[in-house]
Amino acid sequence: MNERKTTSLQALILAAGKGTRMNSDLPKVLHRLANKPMIEYVLESSLRAGIENITVVVGHAREMVEKTVMLWNKENSSVAVEFQFQEQQNGTGHAVLCAREKIQNIGDYLIVLLGDVPLIKPETIEKAYASLTQNRGDMLVITTSLENPHGYGRIIRDDQKNICCIREEKEASLAEKSIKEINTGVFLFKNTALWSFIDELNAHNAQNEYYLTDLVEIMKAQNQKVLTYECSDSIQFQGINSPDQLASLEKLAGVSV
Ligand code: UD1
Ligand code: CA
Repeated sequence: MNERKTTSLQALILAAGKGTRMNSDLPKVLHRLANKPMIEYVLESSLRAGIENITVVVGHAREMVEKTVMLWNKENSSVAVEFQFQEQQNGTGHAVLCAREKIQNIGDYLIVLLGDVPLIKPETIEKAYASLTQNRGDMLVITTSLENPHGYGRIIRDDQKNICCIREEKEASLAEKSIKEINTGVFLFKNTALWSFIDELNAHNAQNEYYLTDLVEIMKAQNQKVLTYECSDSIQFQGINSPDQLASLEKLAGVSV
């Protein structure tokens, strides 16, 4: 592992989940998409976006995930990669909270990426980051629109089209379920804002989990600037939760991955 670098944007990749819906002993992020483990795509996009510090949150089958990531890091040694162990998978917000000690003082900004959303492009990371810094935001949500948004968190906006909150499928009303704009799961934060408000998350929801998505509402209530970056190239954000989704993404992405 290399020394921590000083660039302003660091990445946190959430990869601790078991991936129950994959019906497999292999941790989800190690499932192969076009012959490469999913997590390697996320590592590579981070690297190509100029990110020099990456922390991977591991939990389920952590040794296997760490081994794959370390092998990748050997081949790509310009980036410093570390791991954060999340013993129990209590949600995406909890995963970020676990990493606090390790990462809160690195750089000014953080991007949270998901190990099961592999096809995000480096340009998207760069553009979203530029949008956050140029508009002096505290938090930015990358969104996209899907013909079939089932299973994703929906983006709820007010009359002025500002984001109000993100509603998970399990808590969404019928009207909310008809919204096609979804949370890609990728967030950027100004470090100071994230660590000031993350303690306000709670697990009072259908899944009894700490949802990172709740930070939108929490931050807005504290007059923080929450922005969205809408990306029309939705293939970048197809999440993989089941063998079917993996197969259809391979087909969709074709030889381009
Ligand atoms: C999440 C988002 C949802 C979004 C979708 C995009 C939340 C609450 N929901 O839902 O709004 O539309 O992603 O794909 O954030 N993980 C951990 N530790 C945990 C829980 C999860 O590391 O305790 C990791 C998983 O390994 C996975 C990623 O975080 O790689 C996303 O978790 P998952 O449970 O798949 O979230 P979704 O239900 O897909
Ligand atoms: Ca997922």
